[in-house]
Amino acid sequence: MSIQPLSQKEVSIKPEPKTFWSRDLVSTRDLTPEEVAAILDLAGLMKARPADFRGALAGKQLVMFFEKASLRTRLTFEAGMAGLGGTTMFVDQRQERLDARETLSDIAHNVERWVNGIVLRTFSQATIEGMAEYASVPVINALSDLEHPCQGLTDYFTLQERFGDLKKVTLAYVGDGNNVVHSLLLTGASLGSHVRVATPKGYEPNARILADALAIAKKTGCTIEVMNDPHKAVAGANAVYTDAWASMGQEHETDLRAQIFPPYQVNEKLMSEASPNAIFLHCLPAHRNEEVTDAVIDSEQSVVFDQAENRMHVQKAILFLLLGGDMARIPTHTMRSTHV
Ligand code: CP
Ligand code: NVA
Repeated sequence: MSIQPLSQKEVSIKPEPKTFWSRDLVSTRDLTPEEVAAILDLAGLMKARPADFRGALAGKQLVMFFEKASLRTRLTFEAGMAGLGGTTMFVDQRQERLDARETLSDIAHNVERWVNGIVLRTFSQATIEGMAEYASVPVINALSDLEHPCQGLTDYFTLQERFGDLKKVTLAYVGDGNNVVHSLLLTGASLGSHVRVATPKGYEPNARILADALAIAKKTGCTIEVMNDPHKAVAGANAVYTDAWASMGQEHETDLRAQIFPPYQVNEKLMSEASPNAIFLHCLPAHRNEEVTDAVIDSEQSVVFDQAENRMHVQKAILFLLLGGDMARIPTHTMRSTHV
């Protein structure tokens, strides 16, 4: 990414980084459109100049409780926190739900005495909301059944890297109306970027999330369309996105969904209906030759590993802002180059 030097009066992250301190990221709705844009800009700066942020969270500790499996989210939070000089502790919570042994409130009031932030991957969104309510330190949603905010922010960072002006981009999501598309809807709407979603009947996005995305889109001036026809969704789109037909926790529905979802497979035929320079995105893990064919995910159009890399840069920006990164450690010339 090219960073243009700007004059002193054009400098700075807006809103001011300290307005993020101690806040939670439970839902993308916790962020204003300006804050979403600021996270993407800071992530760009951190990706371009990682060394300038190396000690920014020195002495800070992060604990991560995961009720579900993870490759990318776990490792990018660990690598990102280490890259900022902080440390992480991982608690594998796959054997029992977080609140099975003691109440969420008691866990929160223990953990907040030891660490500076809590990252949660859960089944229920209510678990993350509860932890955020009880804990005095920032709580970050690392995926629930309802939302995956860090993923949505990363995907729009990746689109911005590729296309620049997000207001001119149309993303077509084809598949299940799940946590990932919920975060894409909220992030895309916040950034004024057009989103089309095609799902089978009965698998549409959550009505509340859709209503909130539409309300945000009205203010930012973009379109949000939900339909059942994958061809209509993809027609002329700049980016095509898909995700698992059965998410974690829905494995018992795999056979049923395998009968319903094949018309929504992203294959070369469907990709050919998008814009000629369209890119393909997937949050991963991919179920190859189910929701996407090898020919598409391994093609030149695929940016799935850029997305995976960018998880780390975007989460570094989130951690820096919420955990109170030390601005005094960042070289002045670096802050001057932020084009927010
Ligand atoms: N995309 C994503 O969240 O991957 P993991 O489930 O491996 O963390
Ligand atoms: N929708 C998927 C995303 C995995 C990163 C799931 O929840 O399993």
